[in-house]
Amino acid sequence: MAVRHFLTLLDLSPAELEALIARAIELKSMQRRGEIYEPLKNRVLGMIFEKSSTRTRVSFEAAMIQFGGGSIFLSPRDTQLGRGEPIEDSARVMSRMVDAVMIRTFGHDKVETFAKYSRVPVINALTDDHHPCQLLADIQAYVEHRGSIRGKTVAWIGDGNNMCNSFIHAAAQFDFHLNIACPAGFEPNGELLLTYRDRITLTHDPKAAVKGAHLVVTDVWASMGQEEEAEDRAAKFRDFQVSPALMDLAAKDALFMHCLPAHRGEEVSEDMLDDPRSVVWDEAENRLHAQKALLEFLLVSR
Ligand code: CP
Ligand code: NVA
Repeated sequence: MAVRHFLTLLDLSPAELEALIARAIELKSMQRRGEIYEPLKNRVLGMIFEKSSTRTRVSFEAAMIQFGGGSIFLSPRDTQLGRGEPIEDSARVMSRMVDAVMIRTFGHDKVETFAKYSRVPVINALTDDHHPCQLLADIQAYVEHRGSIRGKTVAWIGDGNNMCNSFIHAAAQFDFHLNIACPAGFEPNGELLLTYRDRITLTHDPKAAVKGAHLVVTDVWASMGQEEEAEDRAAKFRDFQVSPALMDLAAKDALFMHCLPAHRGEEVSEDMLDDPRSVVWDEAENRLHAQKALLEFLLVSR
């Protein structure tokens, strides 16, 4: 059977994604009950990190340990990939030794190239363009707190970045409407906006975007790799901070999410993460459970 990869949310069908979220919820309660479940005994996940991480690294490593397997952390400082060995060659070699490879890098084309030459499943753990693993955790958190997200309205406030692009894919795959409010010049990928125009309302007014929204989401104003733009962006994004007052304009039962790490006083007010509508800690925890469901899907069920 052909190897399946997870480079964007489009790599799984809506039905597969729905089943994966349900399975993540199940795996979470199994873990809560202290049930030992080791479907990946002796299996190995290679983890290539060309950008920093706390949640992604810890959740994938913990997932592999809890599943009875192991993982290998690879930073560009120590690998030949970091010294310029072609991605194609690295993929051919690594995929003969490990059972799956997780990659966090800059250009999305890098994960695509790796996947093309890999014998084993490749998981996108964040590129400049997409962060699909985070969306699995986010949708799981929404379902746990409010039930199905189908037909709901989600408001994205801030930069049209990798997370925003993945939310556009999520709107299509999980069947919800996405209001996007970003400063002029910071819109998400134009092709995505065009392809999914029926699901998206684009505005430059955060208040208009959150009106009636069931879920409000934001992310940092300067992503990894954009550190030099941070000051300029801070000025341009000033009116795009999510606060309890902005949340008051959303639907009564609205939730707030942020993939983290967060910058209090910038994209979120000092008190936003501690507001009762915020589910950011559940969201972060779900990275573990959702990625366990993903690893099981890619390596066991098939
Ligand atoms: N949200 C997320 O991916 O966090 P890390 O950068 O800590 O992995
Ligand atoms: N947009 C952020 C997400 C971090 C998890 C970044 O790419 O840095």
